[in-house]
Amino acid sequence: MENISQYTAQVLDHFQNPRNVGEIENADGLGIIGDPECGDHVRVWIKVDDERIADISFKCVGCPAAIAASSAFTEIVRGMHVDDAVEVGDEEVEKALGRLPDAKRHCSLLAPEAFFGAVMDYVVRSTRRDDGEK
Ligand code: FES
Repeated sequence: MENISQYTAQVLDHFQNPRNVGEIENADGLGIIGDPECGDHVRVWIKVDDERIADISFKCVGCPAAIAASSAFTEIVRGMHVDDAVEVGDEEVEKALGRLPDAKRHCSLLAPEAFFGAVMDYVVRSTRRDDGEK
């Protein structure tokens, strides 16, 4: 059983009221990442407009830290240029959450990694679309 008292108020807020949960219909990119150690996994959908993250959503099957970190991550990168958004890592997520217990620090990696996969998916789809138009 998870010890909830180890978390900051920010973690509990994002865990209990996660932002940007769900799927985006006709997303421009989808990334999925799982942690083989704990079995938790995150899926991230993105919509890109003029190279900016116009919309982002996630679904997480994981611990409170992974859900809170995914929620915080989506808030950070929404509206960012894709090039800047892929630079956002677990340190920024942890900062937004106050801190994470040492044993939970790896949980903040899932969303940035799933997001990176979504951006790669977006790039591949864009390239195929461009090739198809020639
Ligand atoms: Fe698996 Fe948190 S314990 S992501």
